[in-house]
Amino acid sequence: MKLGVTRELPLDCQSLLAPYFDVIQVEEKGRPMTVDELKDFVKDLDVLICQLTDAISDSLLSHAKRLKHIATFSVGVDHLDLNAIKKRGIRLSHTPGVLTDATANLAWALILSCSRRLKMAETFMREGKFNGFAPSLYLGLPLERCTLGIVGMGKIGRAVAKRGESFGMKVQYYTRTPSKDTEGKSVSFNELLATSDVISIHCPLSSSTRHMFCRNSLKLMKSNAVLVNTARGPIIDEKALQEHLLGNPNFFAGLDVFEQEPKVVDGLIDLPNVICLPHIGSASQWAREQMANTCIQEAMRFASNQKLLYEYTL
Ligand code: GLV
Repeated sequence: MKLGVTRELPLDCQSLLAPYFDVIQVEEKGRPMTVDELKDFVKDLDVLICQLTDAISDSLLSHAKRLKHIATFSVGVDHLDLNAIKKRGIRLSHTPGVLTDATANLAWALILSCSRRLKMAETFMREGKFNGFAPSLYLGLPLERCTLGIVGMGKIGRAVAKRGESFGMKVQYYTRTPSKDTEGKSVSFNELLATSDVISIHCPLSSSTRHMFCRNSLKLMKSNAVLVNTARGPIIDEKALQEHLLGNPNFFAGLDVFEQEPKVVDGLIDLPNVICLPHIGSASQWAREQMANTCIQEAMRFASNQKLLYEYTL
């Protein structure tokens, strides 16, 4: 069987998978494959290890007549046409769990950076403006007296909530799939918007979460709130957020994901009240190695007719 890997991963797929597959590893180009490159690449593959930057569409799959298993190096599956995958009887596995702490930690890095104005303060230092301690320099939010609102209470949302509790924050959340043993209080989306000092987004991207944060929902938030997104860019209307940040200088945003990656709306990065990162939520050495290992192990299980442990239910 043939297995293709679209980007170089932090583990050596070639040697680990050689006993099971004829492995085709794309030489790392520092960019995702183009649609045409991908179309050509998937032609004879039985198994594909892909990235969240590989758009696996119905039309792409029509070129992959032999494909039986896709192992995506991501927890999110919004880059995959799930109906088309199901229709063709292709199995899908992803990498939940191993990136929970790395992503929750990055969300917290953004919460702390925004709430304590780190970008502005660091720029001030770099510009040589520091004249010594001043009582009112870059006053931020007292997190221990603030309310943390979580959107999406899956594994990552809950890990962020737990960290919030240890910072002394009151935690509340909005989720469409509540479970009993969850930290904090369940509230409506509008209540979450109006009463949270910090909101961190952890829901998947779907037709119902696209632009959940639009001009109107941003207006319902406190004018000095912090909004953090380490989930998927299109959950926020980026243009509306930019206007909101411009009109509300005490409102801060921490963004690790963008609507049309790698593009970012013109001028957004330069605003003092936003911190932008290049989609590094899961980027700890350990988490990325475990993500690679999950893909590799799932492909091995597939090849040996064993049950997939991280199969995504289609
Ligand atoms: C990262 O964004 C992932 O979905 O793994």
